[in-house]
Amino acid sequence: MNEKKQAGEYAAGYIKDGMTIGLGTGSTVYYTLAKISELVKQGMTLKGVATSTNTARIAESMHIPLIDLNETEIIDLTIDGADEIDPQFNGIKGGGGALLREKLVANASNKIVWVASHTKLVQKLGKFPLPVEVISFGSEHTGRLLAKNNLVPVLRKKENGKTFYTDSGNVIYDLHLKEIAEPGKFADMLKQLPGVVEHGLFLKHPNVVVTGVNGSVVIRE
Ligand code: 5RP
Repeated sequence: MNEKKQAGEYAAGYIKDGMTIGLGTGSTVYYTLAKISELVKQGMTLKGVATSTNTARIAESMHIPLIDLNETEIIDLTIDGADEIDPQFNGIKGGGGALLREKLVANASNKIVWVASHTKLVQKLGKFPLPVEVISFGSEHTGRLLAKNNLVPVLRKKENGKTFYTDSGNVIYDLHLKEIAEPGKFADMLKQLPGVVEHGLFLKHPNVVVTGVNGSVVIRE
């Protein structure tokens, strides 16, 4: 069985009637959305806060009621994917370009569950290129600023070769780093650079990591 499907479906078991749920982005969370849709059909009262227009579109097609982040002070539970997860539960996210909204939703959440295939578990973060969301005004200057800090920024493009724009109209530089020795310090450095809106280092740890492995799931808390 598909590891992403196993993890994504399992995580729906954390959902309780009446919850407001942060709906992550990506191919693993897709399976959670399908399960949430079933729970709604079975009569559960649930509200979703989507972390991307893509997730919102899928949730709407599955008849999952959605609200805006501004309509709730607290999200009971967020279920989201990840690109890399280290043993301390630090993560890299944003492979799908939704890092900014994902971080806002995570920040408003009482409980966070990450769902992933076991291949996302790493000893050190950094092999997966770290996305940095940059305001499009002067984005080439910000790209040069990143390069001056000894980073290797690569402007994200779509398959058709055109620049990728996030849901908030920003661009993304993917940093090819190999290893991030001190994620906290690195995150602080990035945040100080003018033009950087957000980065894909997620240091608010999830409460639970669900990984699919060879036909079953492994739960880490
Ligand atoms: C999107 C993300 C995704 O959660 C991350 O890329 C994992 O995606 P997938 O479940 O498709 O592997 O951060 O911005």
